[in-house]
Formats: sequence, structure tokens, C-alpha cells
Amino acid sequence: MLNALDAMHARRSIREFESELVPMETIRQLVTAAGRAPSSKNTQPWRLYLMQGAPLEALRADYLAAFDAGQPPKPGYQYSPNPLPEAWSARAKDCGVAIFKHKGIGRDDADKRRAHDRENFRFFGAQQMFFIGTQASAFSYGTFLDCGFVLDNLMLGLTALGYGSCPQFSVMIYTDLLKKHIPNSADTLFIAGLPFGRPKAGSHVNQFQPSRLPLDAWFQVTG
Ligand SMILES: Cc1cc2nc3c(=O)[nH]c(=O)nc-3n(C[C@H](O)[C@H](O)[C@H](O)COP(=O)(O)O)c2cc1C
Repeated sequence: MLNALDAMHARRSIREFESELVPMETIRQLVTAAGRAPSSKNTQPWRLYLMQGAPLEALRADYLAAFDAGQPPKPGYQYSPNPLPEAWSARAKDCGVAIFKHKGIGRDDADKRRAHDRENFRFFGAQQMFFIGTQASAFSYGTFLDCGFVLDNLMLGLTALGYGSCPQFSVMIYTDLLKKHIPNSADTLFIAGLPFGRPKAGSHVNQFQPSRLPLDAWFQVTG
């Protein structure tokens, strides 16, 4: 098992998985550890849903049908400022260009670009998936921060155990489908999806890892 710093360095978004399932016992240990995340006043505002087996396949089929039909997006919250600050926008563009280049998808290849987007709604073929959310009526920035700690714990824990995952906001555009397929979630504000599993051996797409800013660009020491 990787230590914390090694897991932080090793984690990357995984977009192709083996069909092998992460055992339920391992998932319980992972989720228990992830739930040690701090939260304001120990409110623990997160809700975590695991989807697998037939319910996940039914959800996947509905998601793909919605995507293929061009169902209008209806996200439960706005993820990013609109417009993005210029520097962020440049980084987002660089990241998009880099992944298309990595996958050998040309600028004008609309079909391949759409197939790339569609992979999101196939949950990258993962056999298991977490959805994290919170109580819809309690929406606040701090609540989101607390939920983010759990999401990161899950991602790092999976990496430490030799598994992988990809956080997804894209799938938040059809949360009506999540409410349809996930019992007791009518009053949940869904925040992100996390398909996970064993990274596919020899996968090309899984080698993609966008660079990071140099430390001096975002880390300031005073004193
Ligand atoms: C909350 C969140 C949502 C994301 N949504 C998506 C998504 O819908 N589809 C996708 O392919 N990647 C998604 N990403 C992955 C980012 O593109 C990725 O984290 C970033 O490019 C850095 O790459 P790395 O995770 O491999 O280090 C998301 C990341 C975060 C944190």
C-alpha cells in the first residue's frame, strides 16, 4: 500500500477500467477511512451512494440514452464561475487540447470528439461508482468543502490500494436520472460522480496526466 504522499503523486484520473470488482469488504474499509474526513463542527454533511451491478447498468443505459438524445443539461449547481478567469480558461483549454492529442483526436474530428464526451456517460466502463452529495436544503460553500474532503480521501485511498477513479462533474447534468435510480435520494444535491476500479492494464488513455503549475505560481511563504 502506498503512503499518503506517494498516493497523492500517483493519483491521476483513470478513464479505462478492468471488469474486476473491488471487494465489498475493501469498499467498506475505504469508505470508513474516508469518513474520517474533517468537517465543520463535525457535521459530516456528506451522503455517499455506491452503484454497482444491475442498478448501475440501468443507470448507464439511461445516461447514454439521454446523451444520445441530446437531453438538455440540468445540473443541480454551477461548478465554475462563468466566464472563467482568463488564466483558468487557458489552463482548461490546454488540458482539453492535450487529452485530444494524447488520444490522437484531431481538431476537426467531430465524431471522435463526441465519442470522447460520450465516454463520460458510459462512466468510462467502470463496474462500480460512487456518487457524493449532500442535503439539498443545506447547500453552502462550506458543506461542499467538507464533501470534497471525503471525495479526495476516496480517490487517494483507492490509489493507495492499487485502484483508480475519475471524479466527474459531467454526469451531474442529468441528476433527475440519479434520483430515479438511487433510492432515498429525492432531497439530495448531487455533487460529483466517481467511477472506480482496477485501472485497465496497458491503457493508453490512463497514461494521460496533465502537468501542474510550478510551486511559485500558487504557493506563497511569508516569514
Ligand atoms: C470535481 C471534478 C470533476 C471532474 N469532472 C470530470 C469529468 O466530468 N470528466 C472527466 O473526464 N474528467 C473530470 N475531471 C478530471 C479533471 O479533468 C482532472 O482532475 C484534471 O484534468 C487533472 O488531471 P488528473 O486528475 O489526472 O491529475 C474532474 C475533476 C474534478 C476535481
